[in-house]
Amino acid sequence: MTVTESLGALEERARRRTGTFGDGALIVCDSLVRIYQSEGVEVQALQGLDLLVESGELVAIVGASGSGKSTLLAVLSGLDVPTAGRVRVGPWDLMSMTARQRVDYRRSMVGFVWQQTARNIVPYLTSAENVAFPMALAGMPRRAREKRAAELLDVLGVGYCADRRPAQMSGGEQQRVAIAVALANSPEVLFADEPTGELDTATSHDVLEGLRTVNRELGTTVVVVTHDAGVSEHVQRTVAIRDGRTSSEVVRRTHTAEDGTESVVAEEYAVLDRAGRVQLPREYRQTLDLVGRVRLALESSHVSVWPDRPTPPRGPHGPQTRPHDEPPAHTGRHAAVPAPGTTDEEAGR
Ligand SMILES: Nc1ncnc2c1ncn2[C@@H]1O[C@H](COP(=O)(O)OP(=O)(O)O)[C@@H](O)[C@H]1O
Ligand SMILES: [Mg+2]
Repeated sequence: MTVTESLGALEERARRRTGTFGDGALIVCDSLVRIYQSEGVEVQALQGLDLLVESGELVAIVGASGSGKSTLLAVLSGLDVPTAGRVRVGPWDLMSMTARQRVDYRRSMVGFVWQQTARNIVPYLTSAENVAFPMALAGMPRRAREKRAAELLDVLGVGYCADRRPAQMSGGEQQRVAIAVALANSPEVLFADEPTGELDTATSHDVLEGLRTVNRELGTTVVVVTHDAGVSEHVQRTVAIRDGRTSSEVVRRTHTAEDGTESVVAEEYAVLDRAGRVQLPREYRQTLDLVGRVRLALESSHVSVWPDRPTPPRGPHGPQTRPHDEPPAHTGRHAAVPAPGTTDEEAGR
């Protein structure tokens, strides 16, 4: 198969996926594919990634190095265009924007914080000047921008750094100033790619708390990418990416007991993608020796997954008394799961 054919097929598949997936969400990634081609070698950095982010959320995206996190953020920030799929942020369709719209989008809708502090702030300007700079470009009067710069630095807890240049601040202070710079023109969404990647644990904590404050006090939707799994303590929702797809999520909720005491409960979820695929954690697969074919059974309230082993003779247990460690008999009546290839999403794969 030639490269052009495979790209065409991917686009065709993405086009067929119409419907209302993600209506109402602020950020919609629907079956995103990004293929890099260098020297004849194809790298699939995003392999059909689905992600929805609601307005006002603070979401962390975690994953091993090379899992596609930066590729995703480059797409969402309008720097890169995916190979196939659908991606929308607010009213902006990032697949079909013109170059001019792309500039508008980057100026008005989104702000960014990068891992390298030098990429975020100008070395010869003070913090206050750095934060005021994007506002000056946007034509805001001097008084108004000085006032807003001071307010933003205060919100991030670095008001005391207003008159310092980057070289006079720690890495964590610089990154918090960088967050203020990114917020200067009041974007709806803030993207941060490994903002704590060059910081120690204690300083990382301050930067992540800074993002949380921004989310809570200014209402900015925040998407932060990190390889640091400890981030989930700072956010309500952590999405894990594996091999260019969202694979699992941890959601933290505050639980109030009957006596009024509050505790935070973290629950882990697997992500069912639009084609109905779900990734089973490696430890589950290893424990039950799940490889290749597995049996699925539809129960009244859930779906069970069984290793593909010969069904033991039914013996003394009657059909009604199937023990918990025995799969359902594979009779026609129990084949509750449609045969492969018969679901509309999977047709043609
Ligand atoms: N410009 C590029 N050209 C070729 N391959 C790339 C390029 N950028 C990223 N990749 C590849 O895409 C995959 C995902 O990369 P990336 O999104 O940077 O991952 P992460 O940020 O999670 O470490 C990796 O295999 C990486 O080598
Ligand atoms: Mg990266």
